[in-house]
Amino acid sequence: MGRRESSAMVLLALVLLHGVQAGRVLPVEEPDVSATVKATRVSVIIIGAGMSGITAGKTLSENGVKDLLILEARDEIGGRMMTHDFGGITIEKGANWIEGVNGPNVNPIIPIAKEIGLVNDRSDFENITNNIYGANGKVDLEVAEPANKFIEDLYESSESLALRLTNDTDVSVLTAQRFYGRFPVTPVEMALDYWYNDFTSAEPPRITSLKNTQPLPTDAIFGDDVYFVHDPRGYKSVVHHLANSYLENKNETITDNRLKLNTLVNKIEYSKEGVEVTTKDGTVYTSDYAIVSVSLGVLQSTAIDFVPDLPFWKLKAIYTFDMAVYTKIFLKFSKKFWSSGSGNKFWLYADERRGYYPIWECRTWIVSFPMRMCSW
Ligand SMILES: Cc1cc2nc3c(=O)[nH]c(=O)nc-3n(C[C@H](O)[C@H](O)[C@H](O)COP(=O)(O)OP(=O)(O)OC[C@H]3O[C@@H](n4cnc5c(N)ncnc54)[C@H](O)[C@@H]3O)c2cc1C
Ligand SMILES: *[C@@H]1O[C@H](CO)[C@@H](O)[C@H](O)[C@H]1NC(C)=O
Ligand SMILES: *[C@@H]1O[C@H](CO)[C@@H](O)[C@H](O)[C@H]1NC(C)=O
Ligand SMILES: *[C@@H]1O[C@H](CO)[C@@H](O)[C@H](O)[C@H]1NC(C)=O
Repeated sequence: MGRRESSAMVLLALVLLHGVQAGRVLPVEEPDVSATVKATRVSVIIIGAGMSGITAGKTLSENGVKDLLILEARDEIGGRMMTHDFGGITIEKGANWIEGVNGPNVNPIIPIAKEIGLVNDRSDFENITNNIYGANGKVDLEVAEPANKFIEDLYESSESLALRLTNDTDVSVLTAQRFYGRFPVTPVEMALDYWYNDFTSAEPPRITSLKNTQPLPTDAIFGDDVYFVHDPRGYKSVVHHLANSYLENKNETITDNRLKLNTLVNKIEYSKEGVEVTTKDGTVYTSDYAIVSVSLGVLQSTAIDFVPDLPFWKLKAIYTFDMAVYTKIFLKFSKKFWSSGSGNKFWLYADERRGYYPIWECRTWIVSFPMRMCSW
């Protein structure tokens, strides 16, 4: 079950899938000591009921560890798989794609998606050069095709540089581009560069690690196709399905008292004797082990006070990565003025300013464009 440190363990489940989060850091609040209650000791406390926390509970449960307690700060499970009702349509505030499909291994989300009939479709990026617009309208294929070839060649040469790096060396994607001798400068090249790099990594090439992204492990292991989820129940229904497989529920609503919602953890004390987890209302829960599944952003903040401090090797891992910000803006128009169909779902806007509203995705009614404003 992981690495042992004294006899108590604090496992950090760091799911760094593109390292993005909804971007809200939970505040630290002093527990109200007068309200302190020692609840019954359990084997494992899981902090966080997102995809990783709920999956950890399922794995434990299937292996006979059923006296567990899941503590979740928000009023629902799912974490960064979160929906919002936008003019009668369910939109995804967090994860939206099943990433890594049609490759050598089956993405574990696929069988679940099939089982629950999750509505999704393959994102077709092939026709992107036909859908680039600039300040003066549609960009000619004569301009778009060579720019796309340049960006693809740049990507491939970066990949070969990545393979030449020794184990303890890493450089940024921008460094690799500089090695190539030329980097994207025209509006169309910059838009395509943003599309290949920032859209995938949620960080600009100057920040993105070459070694960790080329080749991209998700693509190499599971395949490079991505499927866009647009199910009225939300992508989070995958997490609900996993939860319902081991937590008591009535008509799909979890009634199991091993799941505590609206329960914000702000202190984790661990020793040879076990783990004491203190929540905002001052309740202290005790266990033999704890699994911490909160996001990297929460771990990098002061939201949870670890006593004693986490060991250096763990802190190093936590602070070596950066929590990226991924912004989506949804717009709804009264009239559909864009062309649709599989080769037309994605458009690029090529501006003089890199990262200026570059990516547009069009659905029946909604145009959404993930974007990242550049700050350099
Ligand atoms: C905008 C956006 C777009 C994304 N797009 C995709 C995509 O298309 N495809 C994809 O595969 N992935 C995508 N991701 C990433 C994906 O959503 C995450 O990797 C995944 O949901 C993380 O699950 P998790 O369980 O590790 O963490 P989380 O979902 O963050 O779960 C952690 C849980 O811990 C809780 N918590 C935090 N602090 C405390 C505390 N102190 N006490 C108690 N509970 C606490 C949180 O409320 C949360 O429920 C996207 C993420 C974002 C934000
Ligand atoms: C680099 O790491 C791999 C995988 O851990 C290992 O097999 C290889 O021997 C390492 N190479 C060097 C030069 O250290
Ligand atoms: C189950 O939940 C659904 C959706 O919340 C609701 O429409 C339905 O009436 C519920 N059924 C029962 C038996 O409670
Ligand atoms: C590619 O996009 C163009 C311009 O929108 C469109 O006319 C064409 O039908 C698309 N091709 C495919 C194969 O989808």
